[in-house]
Amino acid sequence: MTSRYHEVYSGWQQDPEGFWVKAAAEIDWFSPWERVFDVETGVYGRWFPGATCNTCFNAVDRHVEGGRKDQPALVYDSPISGRKKSFTYGEVKDEVSALAAVLKDFGVGKGDRVVIYMPMVPEAVFAMLACARIGAVHSVVFGGFAARELAARIDDATPKAIISASCGLEPGRVVAYKPLLDEAIRLSAAKPKACLILQREDRRCDLTEGRDHDYAELVGAHRAAGSVVDCEPVLATDPLYILYTSGTTGRPKGVVRDNGGHMVRLKWSMFNEFGIEPGETFWAASDVGWVVGHSYIVYAPLLHGCTTVLFEGKPVGTPDAGVFWRVIAEHKVAALFTAPTAFRAIRTADPDAEMLAPHDLSGFRTLFLAGERADPDTVKWAEKTLGVPVIDHWWQTETGAPISQDPVGLGMLPVKYGSPGVPMPGYDVQVLDDAGHRVPAGTLGNVVIKLPLPPGALPTLWNDDRRFRDAYLTEFPGYYKTADAGMLDEDGYLFIMARTDDIINVAGHRLSTGGMEEVVAEHPAVAECAVIGIADPLKGQVPCGFVVLHGKNAADIRTVERELIAMVRERIGPVAAFKKVVSVKRLPKTRSGKILRATMQKIADRQEWSMPATIDDPAILDEIGEALGKTDS
Ligand code: COA
Ligand code: AMP
Repeated sequence: MTSRYHEVYSGWQQDPEGFWVKAAAEIDWFSPWERVFDVETGVYGRWFPGATCNTCFNAVDRHVEGGRKDQPALVYDSPISGRKKSFTYGEVKDEVSALAAVLKDFGVGKGDRVVIYMPMVPEAVFAMLACARIGAVHSVVFGGFAARELAARIDDATPKAIISASCGLEPGRVVAYKPLLDEAIRLSAAKPKACLILQREDRRCDLTEGRDHDYAELVGAHRAAGSVVDCEPVLATDPLYILYTSGTTGRPKGVVRDNGGHMVRLKWSMFNEFGIEPGETFWAASDVGWVVGHSYIVYAPLLHGCTTVLFEGKPVGTPDAGVFWRVIAEHKVAALFTAPTAFRAIRTADPDAEMLAPHDLSGFRTLFLAGERADPDTVKWAEKTLGVPVIDHWWQTETGAPISQDPVGLGMLPVKYGSPGVPMPGYDVQVLDDAGHRVPAGTLGNVVIKLPLPPGALPTLWNDDRRFRDAYLTEFPGYYKTADAGMLDEDGYLFIMARTDDIINVAGHRLSTGGMEEVVAEHPAVAECAVIGIADPLKGQVPCGFVVLHGKNAADIRTVERELIAMVRERIGPVAAFKKVVSVKRLPKTRSGKILRATMQKIADRQEWSMPATIDDPAILDEIGEALGKTDS
């Protein structure tokens, strides 16, 4: 099939508003918009101002009314606990409605924030949808973050209520959530009025009198009473959720997602980009705490009338490297979306994919990879193993959907390994030099997007228009700065090479090295430090801390290193995967005092590097190499 991509993309270029109006016809609105795009409102303009709608209505109710009441909407598969459960659209509506009634009893209404700190259980999805139903704004916090990170999000979002669970399950250990939640609430200035706690059989917890409530009890009561909560009309421009993501400091950025544009963009993506028809099963093996989980476990598949899979497990070890194939076969998954690191893990454990043999994957059509650069080696292995197209696509928490990819529904383009495809409609992607001039095809530079951003991308940061402008819009006027470095080739394919800020990608998880430096610097023995991301064959990158300690002997150094590792785990969370500390005499700097992180990274990754002209003392780079050599041996 010839691809319709070029025709569709140029259609969008010629008439961007007309393009999105057509896409918006796929959504049920309560009342129409006053303008398609209003450049005068918001930081750079707003999509569909004046329109009213409800995301939960479009994701659930309209399918119940439209003939999908008995179709599975959500399949929960938890190899880690051995539990499986399926919910039809009708059942999801009942669960969500009952939970919405509980939230209303707590006084939660339109515009109020609700923090959701949950493991991968169906109730996490119900919680998101229940908030959407009553017009409350959810903010899901990933379970791998520690109390301090949770507290920072509670303080910024000031939630009226928190929905959480007694525990999460990681291979070999039960993660008690309640002590983390209690500590986070203790640390935060903003105190929620109520916490709704899901008691899991694996580890129950005590409830704090006057504040905590039992999820099953309260929801069960409303379910039994048949309480009905209608979908609250909200403005298309009202926030649906806030999702915090790593910024260039320890303070996370509250990415805001609106209701109207988000639905339009995600619904359009399901067929055109992912090639999925309503009624099919789509599986995003991510976590609801990440943007991929928001968009492609919850909202997009449900808006499209698909069955979505909620997987509580890992690609390996739960119980083995065949679990992905089992889930695909058992739930008749048409497309899987995951991070390349998951496939690197499977390949390492089962290089010849012997565990694939018992499973019938005949209904499986496409594998989508994102979250980090997909190395061609892994892509080719997945292609050979599965015999289906493997699509690398590039996006960010901020955009909520792919910026570039090979659009399967529009017809595939020739594959270029190492490239996450071509810009999607809505995205005029350009590459600029540091002075803001466009660079020729094939030249590396700053990847930027010409404003306005399309529907579904962030309109601003929560309560912080100024930070939004400063972080994304000021450096290249008229453009959104992606903070990714890369290039466009002569055929318009993008290549994304590295971040231009302090963000690193660890096993597809986005983390700020600046945030880790803030923690490490707090240790009294640390005089100076730098945390950089170094190459890792499984996780893509892992953090490595370089520390200059106040006069310590070798034995003390070992103790401090262990303490630093524990501090980062305790303050940021296990997800930071901070396990390597290198003690050095001095840090390499420019004459103006800037730490030469990029050169340190090249040395650590054993890449070729050249002596920076501005270096203060070249001998320090040799010292770094020697210190790394000692930790390797
Ligand atoms: N709650 C509590 N702890 C969590 C957690 C959660 N939700 N998620 C991860 N952690 C912990 C892990 O248990 C691990 O702890 P440990 O240091 O005690 O072993 C630590 O955080 C690091 O986790 P992770 O980076 O996920 O490594 P892993 O060794 O557990 O698994 C992979 C490695 C590759 C199997 C795993 O990262 C994976 O499946 N990645 C897929 C990527 C993905 O989902 N990306 C989302 C964007 S698409
Ligand atoms: P997140 O906000 O967690 O989705 O992380 C976004 C960042 O991950 C991007 O800015 C990129 O640096 C990186 N990223 C995501 N997808 C890709 C991809 N397909 N190729 C290269 N880098 C990617």
